[in-house]
Amino acid sequence: MNRRIHDKVIHTGGPLRRRKLGGRVLSLGTLATIAVLVLTACGPEVSKPYSTTSPASPTAGDIQSLYKLVFWLALIVFIGVQFAIVYTALRYRRTKDSPTRPPQVHGNKRLEIMWTIIPAVVLLAILIPTITTLYEHDAAAEEGDLVVDVYGKQWWWEIQYGEDRTQNGQDLSVVTANEVHLPVGKEAIINLHSNNVIHSFWVPRLSGKMDVMPGHVNKLSITPTEVGEYYGECAEFCGTQHAWMRFKIIVEPQDQFYAWVNGQRSGNPAVLSADDPPPAGFERAPAAFGVCLSCHAVTGLGKPGLTGIEAPANLGPNLTNLSCRDTLAAGLLVNNRENLEKWIDNPGAVKPGNHMATVITPGYIKEQLGQEEFDLLIDYLEGLEPAGGCDGTGASAILAATPAGTPDPAATPVPASTPASVRLGNR
Ligand code: CUA
Repeated sequence: MNRRIHDKVIHTGGPLRRRKLGGRVLSLGTLATIAVLVLTACGPEVSKPYSTTSPASPTAGDIQSLYKLVFWLALIVFIGVQFAIVYTALRYRRTKDSPTRPPQVHGNKRLEIMWTIIPAVVLLAILIPTITTLYEHDAAAEEGDLVVDVYGKQWWWEIQYGEDRTQNGQDLSVVTANEVHLPVGKEAIINLHSNNVIHSFWVPRLSGKMDVMPGHVNKLSITPTEVGEYYGECAEFCGTQHAWMRFKIIVEPQDQFYAWVNGQRSGNPAVLSADDPPPAGFERAPAAFGVCLSCHAVTGLGKPGLTGIEAPANLGPNLTNLSCRDTLAAGLLVNNRENLEKWIDNPGAVKPGNHMATVITPGYIKEQLGQEEFDLLIDYLEGLEPAGGCDGTGASAILAATPAGTPDPAATPVPASTPASVRLGNR
């Protein structure tokens, strides 16, 4: 040590001691703050949609049990180690009575065996239930009451219902984006697909994380036990907008779920042609919407035999009943008129790097269409909802046409128009 500094340290005992005391108070204060923050974070925050500590499905419950096990074991280890450190420091410290160093020991066989065996036992106590749970969850994902195919895209999620998508030449598929509807109390098998990069599907309150791999289908079993909304997000870095690849699982009573399925299936009948009056029950989509159809689809639009073109593509999210979704751009924008205009006018400014931004340059659509046509387009998109509106009134009309339900949810009659593979308990 530098001589001058050494002198200063030795000979300014008063201020140094005070500084030491101040330092101690400061570090104790810091520790206390961290402890309070940790304890607050650990509190049961059921209201937080991303909470990992308030499971709402049996699988999430299993994971929570594992968390608890690891937490308590780690706490015991932590307290034990801290106790040993503090005890050793106090017991063998240099005092006035024993100013010399205590005897220095190297190697202690008994101690070494002990500190090998104890951690091994602790790790085993974590390993066995962890592996058991993994295998149980894997086996559970083999068969369920309904199948949902989820596709990770850059950067949004496509959701498809129904295993058998055509019956008697009729397309029975329900395709939507970023909002997964599930019936409460039924086991959904989520098949995870990707045709691009690796994503990860994670809804903390309902299930563990599962990677979405190109070329391999991973399966998840989710049996939601409570009606409600559960937030999820992509949990594997997948490009510039990875952070905005959010989604939601909406768990509904079964009749509401069927109603939603039927609302999606009946879609929004419309024709593009402006020449003839639209057939009964059909509306006219603005001709400008034809541009959107190179990447998007709307169920019911331009059905064969009607004027207009068929909605062909699925490069972008399916827009059927778009107005019923809470967000646009995978959780990034609240779904309202202002944001819809902003999104379509300049997608690159809202979500840089997204695919639509490579096709639509800033202001392009408005420039091509003019303000009036642009407004018509927005009107049309805002009007994409089931006949009875998004609140399910249209749904109850569909349900009213079917025999009355019984108290047993498994026996709830399914409207005839529901795809066979989403008729619950029917597989
Ligand atoms: Cu998809 Cu991150």
